[in-house]
Amino acid sequence: MLDEMRKKAMLGGGKDRIRKQHEKGKLTARERLEKLLDEGTFVEIGVFGQSRATDFGMDKKRYFGDGVVTGYGTINGRLVFVYAQDFTVLGGSLGELQAEKIARVQDLAMKNGAPLIGINDSGGARIQEGVDSLKGYGEIFYRNTMASGVVPQIAVIMGPSAGGAVYSPAIMDFVVMVDKTSHMFITGPQVIKSVTGEDIDFEGLGGAMVHNSKSGNAHLIAKSDEEALFLVRKLLEYLPQNNVEDPPLVDTGDVPDRMDYHLDSIIPEDPKKSYNVYDVISTVFDKNSFFEIHPLFARNIVVGFARLNGKSVGVVANQPAVYAGVLDIDASDKAARFVRFCDSFNIPVITLVDVPGYMPGVSQEHGGIIRHGAKLLYAYSEATVPKITVIMRKAYGGAYIAMGSKHLRADVVYAWPNAEIAVMGPEGAVNIVFRREIANSDDPETRRVELIKEYRDKFANPYVAASRLYVDDVIYPHETRVRLIQALNMLENKREDRPMKKHGNIPL
Ligand code: HXC
Repeated sequence: MLDEMRKKAMLGGGKDRIRKQHEKGKLTARERLEKLLDEGTFVEIGVFGQSRATDFGMDKKRYFGDGVVTGYGTINGRLVFVYAQDFTVLGGSLGELQAEKIARVQDLAMKNGAPLIGINDSGGARIQEGVDSLKGYGEIFYRNTMASGVVPQIAVIMGPSAGGAVYSPAIMDFVVMVDKTSHMFITGPQVIKSVTGEDIDFEGLGGAMVHNSKSGNAHLIAKSDEEALFLVRKLLEYLPQNNVEDPPLVDTGDVPDRMDYHLDSIIPEDPKKSYNVYDVISTVFDKNSFFEIHPLFARNIVVGFARLNGKSVGVVANQPAVYAGVLDIDASDKAARFVRFCDSFNIPVITLVDVPGYMPGVSQEHGGIIRHGAKLLYAYSEATVPKITVIMRKAYGGAYIAMGSKHLRADVVYAWPNAEIAVMGPEGAVNIVFRREIANSDDPETRRVELIKEYRDKFANPYVAASRLYVDDVIYPHETRVRLIQALNMLENKREDRPMKKHGNIPL
């Protein structure tokens, strides 16, 4: 009897629906968990759970597991708690029992200090179960919030994630989406058409590309279910199990005293010319260790995890090759959220600065750059993990302060010799301060060029900031790796407190 019952349970919504799932290019919930976890480690919880609902024909639609597979296992030998919604059962829709199963693994993840990974493939709240289903979501959101900053939470979207179903992933730390087969939206194309008259399909509304590049709701995109699960395994390598552990040390085979002299010529002589910050990242950090987060969103700033002498670090770097590396609304949100994640989970933050300022423009001002830009100031100020900053070239205005400056309590700040640190760039500054003098001069253009040179000599260098101790040292670019590793070692046991409070009020 047991064997038969179990066999039935393993088939979810039945063979036909499993075939349909495969035809869509999607794996089933159990296949996904098998690929995610170390071989043979999955232990299922609540295999025989069933919905108690009876309304709207639900008494004839009872399935073991109730549309979600839950349990635990290991990834690279480390414990994780998991759930995977089973679309073959009532479209993976969430009713009271499904919610209870998910809540149970959430509770276990918290009690045992291990990451939670949720695989989403669901039509949202189960319509037949009414308010019980809404209560279920509420219970999940509450637990997601309680777990935030305690254990890492990763959502993988592998099918529809419609209606309220989007909000659990939204509260979690990272969202991974599969291209073409996953869609997230709070109201679908039909409702949008009837309310606003806009015509849009699922992909254009809430496909993986849209959320990775436009809305920023998703952090990673994968070509297939298999690739998405691989990305989750890889991401976890950089993270601790919980907020009282340190991330694991990994021998990357790289040496700490490696110096790359080509870095000395990476900054173009002309300050208006750009370069690619990925070239700096790939040289300074352990070879092939950079794992980028949000690679397609707000590409004017680059964030991700890397290793320095085997230690996990968070990297925040302006990207001069995209919009000159300016800080706009999206870049501020992206970097602030990343810094806060690192701070929650004891991951030091390394900041590489080349920023001309905050982005000017009516759409930015009306979009709330003041509020969004403030998030970055807030995130760096509240972070107590080791913070090390390297000013590679431009560091102007508010963006200089925001990008991990000494004034927001960076522990160590280095500058490269051609760093420019000032209130604003030479052209803008001269046009404001010497506008009248230039206009009244016999040869305004020559006078303007002279004044720009004077300003550049006086301010556009790192030595004024270094003389005030805002910069700890001016270093050659080729020394960067060595100096970062020294600083990181020095800060190994850093402890720093912030005032006791219930919580701060980050400008949201
Ligand atoms: C009950 C559902 C369901 C739901 C799908 N199903 N969604 N059952 N409640 N929310 C069932 C379908 O009736 C169908 O059952 C089976 O799942 C497969 O669905 P299909 O429609 O045949 O699949 P497909 O064509 O792939 O389309 C999938 C879909 C579509 C895009 C997800 O089903 C859909 O639009 N569903 C509704 C999505 C939605 O609006 N959700 C929001 C709910 S409100 P049978 O037996 O016929 O095969 C919400 C608010 C919560 O979530 C707020 C919390 C804060």
